[in-house]
Amino acid sequence: MTNKFITSSIKYIGVDDNDIDLFESQYIVPNGISYNSYLIEDEKIAIMDTVDARKGDEWLPLLKKELDGRQPDFLVVHHLEPDHASLIAKVLELYPNVKIVTSDRAAKMLPQFFEGVDFCNCVITVKEGDSLSLGKHNLKFFAAPMVHWPEVIVSYEETEKIVFSADGFGKFGALAHDEDWACEARRYYFNICGKYGVQVQALLKKLATLDVACICPLHGPILKENLGYYIGLYDCWSKYEVETDGIFIAYASIHGGTAAAANKLAEILRSKGAPKVSVADLCRDDMAEAVEDAFRMSKLVLCAASYDGGVFPPMHDFLHHLQIKNFQKRKVGILENGSWAPCAGKVMKSMLESMKDIEIAGNSVTIMSRMKQADLAAMEALADEMLK
Ligand code: FEO
Repeated sequence: MTNKFITSSIKYIGVDDNDIDLFESQYIVPNGISYNSYLIEDEKIAIMDTVDARKGDEWLPLLKKELDGRQPDFLVVHHLEPDHASLIAKVLELYPNVKIVTSDRAAKMLPQFFEGVDFCNCVITVKEGDSLSLGKHNLKFFAAPMVHWPEVIVSYEETEKIVFSADGFGKFGALAHDEDWACEARRYYFNICGKYGVQVQALLKKLATLDVACICPLHGPILKENLGYYIGLYDCWSKYEVETDGIFIAYASIHGGTAAAANKLAEILRSKGAPKVSVADLCRDDMAEAVEDAFRMSKLVLCAASYDGGVFPPMHDFLHHLQIKNFQKRKVGILENGSWAPCAGKVMKSMLESMKDIEIAGNSVTIMSRMKQADLAAMEALADEMLK
């Protein structure tokens, strides 16, 4: 659990969600997720984002307790997605004098989420470079469009040098679980923000102009030390650069024949000295982790059965995920399986060709139903080409 005091006047007032089944109705979160919210106490009091309505029964009493009878002056809304903003109307109802501070785009979107709520006289819009003085503390705002939605802003508290980074630097996993940051932050990044590398780069350039002592994201731990490590990983990820030198084999197998070939290929690659080889079963393993691994590693091999004149759907689903997440700059090998008319390779190739800077290995492998001794030469050739 995080310490409530980030500094003597900035408090963490977020909540853990340990019983959500799927984050965004699509991502497993075995260790839950945190919805972070903060309170800045000065001459003026600012609430920094609300939390998901799922945890309103926890957050609203916590807010009330920390306010200790005082009225908040501002509710800063960095991001309007409901996991952070769904209690805005509730805050207005409890504290009618509070001013919502947010981007112009968010102000226009607010009524979409809260039918019947009058926002006419309670919203202050801020744009790039605007400031909000709370007394000793001064918030400076920066636009961060598409990190992760178009209305996103981040803020920098100049006195204590704290960045409130919205979804940026977020991580799956409730704060009660003390776990490695990079693994679940990477799975979060590529699946939530992966498409928007250019926009994340733009935000990193803005952050590079600031003296940052602490990053307060909307999910996951508050980052206070070794900030260069986290910023360096974000720089690598948002440039779509290789983080780990190695080959990721993703397979979609119906009756085990393609799985056996994928595992044999992994064995061949290891025997030839591949720096790292990891294998995922797209039918059973977590799709979000497979997406993460594709971006993380330097090379990718796709192995799939043919199906209904195309490719077996779990592979199609994986490639669709890579397409929409802007997968790029990688070398990819193809192994297909088919019992009468192998066609998975053609579909995989065509989907890969829609992606940017993808080099498809000239050596591909076609097996018929089951890998046989006669297939090994083609598999060796594909392995050799992937290791070049
Ligand atoms: Fe955590 Fe894009 O909301």
